[in-house]
Amino acid sequence: MKKILRSIAATFVIASSLLAAGASFGQQMAPKDDQLYKAFGEKAGLIALMDDFMVRLLADPRTGPHFQPANQQRVKEQLVDQFCALGGGPCVYKGVDMKSSHANLEIKKSDFHALVEVLQTSMDARGIAFRKQGEMLALLAPMNRDIITPK
Ligand code: HEM
Repeated sequence: MKKILRSIAATFVIASSLLAAGASFGQQMAPKDDQLYKAFGEKAGLIALMDDFMVRLLADPRTGPHFQPANQQRVKEQLVDQFCALGGGPCVYKGVDMKSSHANLEIKKSDFHALVEVLQTSMDARGIAFRKQGEMLALLAPMNRDIITPK
């Protein structure tokens, strides 16, 4: 009887630690404060950033063909909310998850790098501190797994 109880307890401990790991690694960790959101100029700064970003994405021959047929206004709005939430701001991202929204878009690794490069140009143009750019890029980088189309 004691043995059974012990094995039930062990199963419970393993299950709960797996759940805890899922909560901290599998999902986006909650930002500890809104410093990153503030460094991006809050909501108005993010709207200006995404306006600039979309213009550059469309102009760049590597990313333009992807974004031309998209609902560009919607993508910009979703990006504002996504970056706001990632930066610890008062937003909730309600858009489509990264895997579903990029499925069937045939996105290559080089397309992902191109988009990051264009984003860096936009962040520079908005005068966002280099260190803060790095913090945001570190949050975005792991999304490549869901965005790049598997070969
Ligand atoms: C870290 C990188 C990326 C992030 C954070 C990101 C984020 C987003 C978000 C938030 C949306 C809107 C989803 C919605 O409509 O609910 C979206 C849509 C879209 N993204 Fe990305 N994206 C990334 C990389 C890329 C890359 C590399 C490409 C192609 C070069 C791309 C092409 C698109 C297109 C074409 C849409 C619109 C899809 C449609 O029409 O429904 N994205 N992305």
